[in-house]
Parts: sequence; C-alpha cells; structure tokens
Amino acid sequence: MFKIARLPDTPQLKTDLLIFFLEEITSKNKKINLPEIVSHFQSLFDYPLSYGDFKGKFKEQLLLYPNEPHPVKRIALIGVGRQVDRDLNDSRMLGYEVGRIQEKTAAKRVHIALSGSYLHTEEQVAALSEGLQFQKYRFELYKKKDKKDNSKAQFLFLFSGEDYTSHYKKVIEESRISMDAVKIARDLSNEPSNICTPEFIKDFVINHFRKMDHISVEALDRDKLQELSFHAMLSVAKGSREKPYLLIIRFTPDRKKRKTLAVVGKGVTFDSGGISIKPSRKMDEMKFDMAGGAAVIAFMDAVARLKPRFEVVGVVPLVENMPGSRAFKPGDIIKACNGKTIEILNTDAEGRLILADAIAYTVERFKPAVLLDLATLTGSVLHALGDKAAGLFSNSDSLRDLLVSAAEKSGDYLWPLPLWKMYDEDIKSNVADIKNLGDNQAGAIAAAKFLEQFAGNVKWAHIDMAGTAYDVKNIDFLGKGATGYGPRLLIQAMNHLEALL
Ligand code: BES
Ligand code: ZN
Ligand code: ZN
Repeated sequence: MFKIARLPDTPQLKTDLLIFFLEEITSKNKKINLPEIVSHFQSLFDYPLSYGDFKGKFKEQLLLYPNEPHPVKRIALIGVGRQVDRDLNDSRMLGYEVGRIQEKTAAKRVHIALSGSYLHTEEQVAALSEGLQFQKYRFELYKKKDKKDNSKAQFLFLFSGEDYTSHYKKVIEESRISMDAVKIARDLSNEPSNICTPEFIKDFVINHFRKMDHISVEALDRDKLQELSFHAMLSVAKGSREKPYLLIIRFTPDRKKRKTLAVVGKGVTFDSGGISIKPSRKMDEMKFDMAGGAAVIAFMDAVARLKPRFEVVGVVPLVENMPGSRAFKPGDIIKACNGKTIEILNTDAEGRLILADAIAYTVERFKPAVLLDLATLTGSVLHALGDKAAGLFSNSDSLRDLLVSAAEKSGDYLWPLPLWKMYDEDIKSNVADIKNLGDNQAGAIAAAKFLEQFAGNVKWAHIDMAGTAYDVKNIDFLGKGATGYGPRLLIQAMNHLEALL
C-alpha cells in the first residue's frame, strides 16, 4: 500500500492523483514556493491562488484537472495552515485528508510530493502516514459487503534526491508496524461482547502469536487461577457463564541483558456493573471495557516485530462482569493473591479487582523493572480530562516524565494526576485492609491508589484510558467506535524505556 519513491522529472510521472501541500498564504508570504514537480502545472492554479479562492488554510483543499489527456490525471492542493501552531497531530489530520481525497476520486495510484513541502521531517512523514492509515480503517465485519473495493490503492511518497536516501523508508515502515497494532486493538475492541468473550480473546491470542519467533503465550484457566489464589479476579468472574482467563504473552530477546518491562491491560469483555448494575443508557459502550487489554495484546504484536533488546511481558486478565446468581455482592470481603483483603462496596468497581491480582502476580513472578497498566478504569477520569487525554499516575518521576513526552509524540495523549498519601484515606475500610470504592470525590485517584497497593516497589505507572478508548469527538482520523488508544504510546515509550531497565 505504501511505497517511497524518488521525485521523477515531471514528464515521467504517471499518476491518478498528485498531492502536494501548501503553506497558508498571508499578506507576509505572498510568494509561494512550489515543489519543482508541481511548478510544471503552475498555470493550473494561477487563478485560484490569485483570486484568493484557495488560501492554504489548514485542511483546505483544491482539486484540479490538467486539460488535455495527461499522465497526471488529477492534482490536489492541501493547505497546511500556519507554521506557528502545527503539531504532529496536524500531520495525522492531513494524512487523513489525503485518504479522503483518494477515496472520493477512487484513484488507484496516488503520489504525494513531500520534499519541498512543510511536511518533511521524519516525524511529520511518519505521522502523515499514520493519519492515512487511520482513514483506511473500517469495522464492517457485520455489514453487507460494499462492492467498492478501495483497498488496493497505492500511495507513493515522493522525495527528491537527497531526502530520498535518508531514513524516511524506516519511519514509514515503523508507522506500518504501529498502525497494524492499532488495527488489532480497534478490531478487538469493536467486536461485540457476544462474540468477543474471554474465550474468544484467548483463542485469538494463541492463534495470532503461534508462529512468531521469541514469543510464548500462556493462558491460565479458572482452576489454575484458583490454585494461585486469584480471588479478586475470580470474584468478578463469578456472576457470568463466561470462563475467565489470565493471558501472559512473553517476548524474550536473543541475549537477555536487561531487566523486564511488564504491561498489564484490563480485559473486561462486558461490564454490566454486576449486582451494582449500571443504568441502561449507554450500557452498550461497556463492550469497550477490554480496550486496555486489547492495547496490550496489540503492543505485543509490535514488540514481536520491533524486537527490543529487553524482555517484555504482556498480561491480560479476562472476565465478564455480570449479575448472575453466583455473582459477588456488595459487602463481600475477598482476599487477593498477595494476601490483602478487600471489602467490596460496589461490584461495578471491578477493573481494579482483576488488575490487583494481575499486577501483584506479574510483580512477583517476573520481577519487572517497570510495570505499566492500561485500563478503562473510571468514569471519573473522563470528568477530569475529557476524551482527549488519559490520566497518568506513577510512583516514579522519571517514568512519568518519559511517558508524558512519549504520549505527546505518539498522539495518545496523557496527563499526570497525583498519588499523594493523603488520598490513602479514600480506600481505608472498616472491616478489611482496603475497600474497592473511594469516597465519591476523586474516583480516578482512588482507583489508582487502590492499584498502588499491588505494585510493590516496582517503578509503576497506571494509565486510566476510560475517556480516550472510544468515540472521541472532533479528531476526525480517530473515526467511530474504538480509537485503538495505547499501542502507539507504548511503542513510542519503549524506545526510551531501555534507560530505566
Ligand atoms: N468500566 C467502568 C469505567 C468506565 C466508565 C469506562 C465510562 C468507560 C466509560 C468501570 O468498571 C466502572 O464502572 N467504574 C466506576 C467505579 C465506581 C463504581 C467506583 C465508575 O467510574 O463509575
Ligand atoms: Zn465497572
Ligand atoms: Zn469496568
């Protein structure tokens, strides 16, 4: 689907669609710099530009057609706005626009002129390619087949001589790896819970990683989890007919020199709330409650392809939270696998329970140097940060800083929230070591304080992605349904984590 090519001399270029980007034309920069390849077509856009019909505003578009039969069938100008406030997400948005023009014109071969345009750093090109891949994503497994086959379009990124020999090829290939992971995360998250049960995800993972080098998969079933005293996780599973599993996906490098990175993801395939049942409005959205787990599975796919020099372990506790007759109940007291007792005050606060066992077990078994967890954990984080950034909690300043800067580059945004010890009061119980409910004020913090109890002394960060996992508004390229939040962030962070391992 993607190729990188040297900018040819114009007469040689044969294409269905040639795209190039233009800075916003202001009173200060009347003179526009066109890449050489398009200057050949100058006469075509003389009028639109001089009349001011096209100003190069961000995402503004102009589609033009060379007159006589011409090897270049269409030319699209896309505005990039002004330099001052452009970030990498803007490049993703422009990539998305490229995809839309391709779709509208049904062009089979699309050439994108990048040298000489504002979009030329490696990061910008990777982001553009990401946005384009986001635009191509559909979840249409359950829809009548559309006859239009749009999947075969080829995109050629054009660079001139010097640029062509640089690292663009590598960054575009890396964007493929991370976007393949994003697709895995979105597909799994978008699947409805009648199909996507814990069993389904377990089978998917076993199959998906079966033939991959350096990767092993374990799926611990109910009996094994009993044996390991996973009572917090098993309590949540009790009200459902679906069997729970703990997935462990492990990447081992050739020569293990460093410590281990562990990543744990919440895998509740449907969260009805259990006995503390949720209101029916928007309850359908609780099929996305395994998006953290999906992010971890997807990340492990990228890990297998990127082959870091350290061990990476992905752990996903899988359950369905239902109010069946055997369901756990408010008032119950249970013991997690590390011996801590928990008073259940709300069965809808189930994510922290399954993560408690999964995190404590991961710390104990793998002794990771860094442990990250991703979870659609609280509605509260949505009130704090909305749907644009996930909440970040960490017991390590260096890890927190590393994640915030990785987040900003990756487009999976994060913002820190506190874990101060005065919040310890929020989860104190009268009858057990801790309770699974805060005091109704700072819900996301209470949940994070709860998890902190199970991370031990490991450098740990918790990412509450309840707001960012699905149905994000006003960022077109994220589309509808699951956003695939997580893998891009983890991949970006992985490149810098080595220093902490
Ligand atoms: N899965 C939900 C959190 C959630 C809310 C995810 C909205 C996505 C969108 C979680 O299990 C939950 O129910 N949390 C409760 C906790 C409360 C009972 C302490 C919440 O946040 O309301
Ligand atoms: Zn819940
Ligand atoms: Zn939940």
